[in-house]
Amino acid sequence: MIPESFIQDLLARVDLVDLIDGYVPLKKAGANYAACCPFHNEKSPSFTVSPSKQFYHCFGCGAHGTAIGFLMEYQGIGFVDAIKELASRAGMQVPQDEFKTGGHAPDQGTVRGLVEVMTRAAQFYKEELKKSPKAIDYLKQRGLTGEIAAKFGIGYAPPTGLKTAFADYDDSRLVAAGLVKVGDDGRRYDYFRDRVMFPIFNQKGEVIAFGGRVMGVGEPKYLNSPETPLFEKGRELFGLPQARAALRETDTAIVVEGYMDVVALAQHGVGNALATLGTATTTMHVQKLLRQVDRIVFCFDGDAAGRKAAWRALENALEALSDNKSIGFVFLPDPEDPDSFVRANGREAFERMIREATPLSEFLLRELASRSDLSTSEGKAKLIYEAKPLLQKLPTPLLRLQLVKRAAEVSGFTQAEVERLCDLKSFGPAGLPKSPRRAPSLNKTLLRLVLHQPELAARLPVGDLPDSPERSVLVCLYDWAAKGEMMTYAVLRERLRGTQQEAVVEAAAAEFLHSSLQPDEIESEFSGALARLREGGHKRDFDELQARVRRLGVAGLTPEEKQAYARLVAMRGKKD
Ligand code: UTP
Ligand code: MN
Repeated sequence: MIPESFIQDLLARVDLVDLIDGYVPLKKAGANYAACCPFHNEKSPSFTVSPSKQFYHCFGCGAHGTAIGFLMEYQGIGFVDAIKELASRAGMQVPQDEFKTGGHAPDQGTVRGLVEVMTRAAQFYKEELKKSPKAIDYLKQRGLTGEIAAKFGIGYAPPTGLKTAFADYDDSRLVAAGLVKVGDDGRRYDYFRDRVMFPIFNQKGEVIAFGGRVMGVGEPKYLNSPETPLFEKGRELFGLPQARAALRETDTAIVVEGYMDVVALAQHGVGNALATLGTATTTMHVQKLLRQVDRIVFCFDGDAAGRKAAWRALENALEALSDNKSIGFVFLPDPEDPDSFVRANGREAFERMIREATPLSEFLLRELASRSDLSTSEGKAKLIYEAKPLLQKLPTPLLRLQLVKRAAEVSGFTQAEVERLCDLKSFGPAGLPKSPRRAPSLNKTLLRLVLHQPELAARLPVGDLPDSPERSVLVCLYDWAAKGEMMTYAVLRERLRGTQQEAVVEAAAAEFLHSSLQPDEIESEFSGALARLREGGHKRDFDELQARVRRLGVAGLTPEEKQAYARLVAMRGKKD
């Protein structure tokens, strides 16, 4: 393990702007530096580097990190190698014999530990595939070559499971990662047995889950990893790292339903397909993809379930749309799925269908029209009634206008009537929806300020912080400050590597990239936030007491409660 203090010194020594500029030429932009993001395909620069806080953040794809994270992501190397490289640039000596374990703090409970276990399992399943003629035959018979099987890391879980893969089968991480289940009798057994294994990778290319298919008939046909700290179905897509180059090339993502659809399409030269994991397409899926490409085509099975899945995808995609993005739908003839279609008709025919996909607007209106009898007044009214929630979700002024016009045509209302009936707020002069910006929560504000000025952490009223994802980070910062440890942002970021708090800190840091607060402004915002926190606490106390008074009368309160109640009533009186 590399000592924490060494990492701190290293981060203090290297300059992130210098480092990144060597790979991606940076341009000064206000207090920061900017460039087109090296981690996703874009035409205008949303990749920002903060020289004062020593981190980078991409407003397009969400890439975020310190000098260590940059090297890891840019060069595709591990944590230890990134440290070594930075150290040699800075002329520092990495403490010797310290990285036998091959990683940073192999903390049992953390995400990092689970990734380690999953990676080892994936490796084992891959080896087992080579030894199983039955599984190899199955994949061959489904038209896959060894090359594609290797590209997707396909493996085989033997009936005997992972017992021989891990020295310690009782390692609690196996259970936490969803690979091993503990039965009612306390015995441990493998979750996946005698199945063809499809590893699911996250965007960084780490194995976070598996889908396992039975060969032949059996229930369930596919078994998926349970949700774990690593794996949230509604966020992840199968085939993402494998599709990266093709996504960039085609600027289009094809979303299909099944693992085998993705793999078969790749086998036939269509590399830009991804699958949801036995769940509906979520807004998060769509957001994730639209950061990388301008066009998504949903290509679902030709059956009733496929049509339903397409409609769900439409509903959830609306919020993530913008006017420079497009979404299309392909409906395969029943009973085809993308796998059978591409095998029967080939790449050309499949790609033609993708090019000629039904635009979202057309699918939306056609579907709504098919649900109502448009020859009657009632039917026309119903169409508008059903269009309302969908139109309200659309953040795209131009597309929404188009849809309103067409909804007006088919329903016989005027455009203005449709807008009024659907309660559509007009878009502001800048073409942006006038969504009332919700005041950021107090914890968010506090976190942003503390990241700006770490010494403020010591003044946090940790006992009174409301519950929110930011709370645990604030408490950590407070504890460290109380121990006299001063955190720079970059050190904090590396300390949280592999924990669930990473995302929280990244979000808060991204927020302050574009603000340039002076120390006195920070101080007054911080004091203001603490005051609001106290006031909120008083209000909660007051509401509670008030409720008791209503039930029991003032006489029913304890003497202390009576005093508190009187004080709070007086305070409120002063304010009104
Ligand atoms: P399908 O039943 O359409 O299977 O499920 P498929 O992709 O065509 O698979 P093959 O061709 O028979 O091998 C589509 C997706 O739904 C999820 C899986 O993600 C699958 O890829 N699914 C399906 C499950 O999670 N569990 C199941 O039992 C079945
Ligand atoms: Mn299939």
